[in-house]
Amino acid sequence: MTILLLGSGGREHAFAWKMIQSPLCEKLFVAPGNAGTAGIATNVDMSPTDFDAIKAFVLKENVKMVVVGPEDPLVKGIYDYFKNDESLNHIPVIGPSKLGAQLEGSKEFAKEFLMKHNIPTAAYDSFTAETVEKGCAFLETLQPPYVLKADGLAAGKGVLIIQDLEEAKTELRNMLVHEKFGAASSKVVIEEFLDGIELSCFVLTDGKSYKILPTAKDYKRIGEGDTGLNTGGMGAVSPVPYVDAVLMEKIETRIVKPTIEGFQKDGIEYKGFVFIGLINVKNEPIVIEYNVRMGDPETEVVVPRLKSDLVALFQSVADQKLDTFELEVDPRSATTIMVVSGGYPEEFEKGKVITGLENITDSIVFHAGTKLDNENVVSNGGRVLTVTSYGDDFQQAIKKSYQNIDKLNFDKMYFRKDIGFDLL
Ligand code: AMP
Ligand code: GLY
Repeated sequence: MTILLLGSGGREHAFAWKMIQSPLCEKLFVAPGNAGTAGIATNVDMSPTDFDAIKAFVLKENVKMVVVGPEDPLVKGIYDYFKNDESLNHIPVIGPSKLGAQLEGSKEFAKEFLMKHNIPTAAYDSFTAETVEKGCAFLETLQPPYVLKADGLAAGKGVLIIQDLEEAKTELRNMLVHEKFGAASSKVVIEEFLDGIELSCFVLTDGKSYKILPTAKDYKRIGEGDTGLNTGGMGAVSPVPYVDAVLMEKIETRIVKPTIEGFQKDGIEYKGFVFIGLINVKNEPIVIEYNVRMGDPETEVVVPRLKSDLVALFQSVADQKLDTFELEVDPRSATTIMVVSGGYPEEFEKGKVITGLENITDSIVFHAGTKLDNENVVSNGGRVLTVTSYGDDFQQAIKKSYQNIDKLNFDKMYFRKDIGFDLL
């Protein structure tokens, strides 16, 4: 069949890499894609949120399945757009309905869902410009540090963690009254701070049944030792060595099952990924966020560990037959190290020629912000590419990625040299 994959990051290159290995995938289009997807599929110059253009393309090319990488099109309702259009409603969209996507699109919606279904989460309250003084009073009842979350999508920047009470009040006013994050912070969730180790759980659901995918941990800060500014993610490791069967069982019974049952009880149509952000507080997993897509760069370690056919897996989601799907996972570790443009996540330059890609044979290079410029691959974003390797353990896999990164070069390239440091 012909498949359209939406997105342009390392996540989408990893999906594409896996999907084209499927005998079910006759033709793969990626919109808009990057230089990596251009090498294995056909890029289409089309925005993932331009639904009318997507409709015209899907009908013209006889596309039989749409796989959505990023959250934007999901929050904007691409699932419902297809469902409500007579010419499109036979084409499955892998991703939740607009209502389901609110789990990522609105922190308040997510908190209400968690509370309603008795899923462990941090205590909270939410405030608007009208109730800003109540918000300040609420802050006074909490212990520092204070956690302030913009309600809407803020490109991963909407969460502030602040030590000082007066600074927290000032930032709350900045968000609510001075629109620090634009419309995204017209509502703010104030949350109890949870002290523990972060981990992520990835679930794929057809709305009835679910599969838990391999665990992964990413490294969000730009600097070594987890210091400096937050980024989209500088590297990832799968599996997460400290997640044992006892913890996984707690995550499944207390969090995953009630989440999927919550979709059914609330009439939320959901055929896609649920990425559950957790903090493990003294061996008690507590939810800090939902995302309605796969993580990036977590996908670049989770997908390479799937032995099963990814297109067949997506088809079973579309057909609501996930309960009978046998998910096979590679027991090896996979790690990925993100190579970024110097300056990222602040200002950086693009258009740098990347050399050495052809010398990497025993790792997989997934492109993120790259594009083709005549015969050259050039940088086209902050996160440029990521080098994924397998190993018997994560140390072996990480070593291989670093050896291969040494073969790559572009002006001002940067990467963290300590991915996995906290797992030893
Ligand atoms: P989120 O966008 O909700 O994942 O938040 C971004 C980051 O803020 C998370 O990855 C955590 O490191 C941190 N964070 C969010 N909520 C809390 C919380 N309640 N307690 C401690 N840290 C948090
Ligand atoms: N790496 C974290 C995310 O994709 O949100």
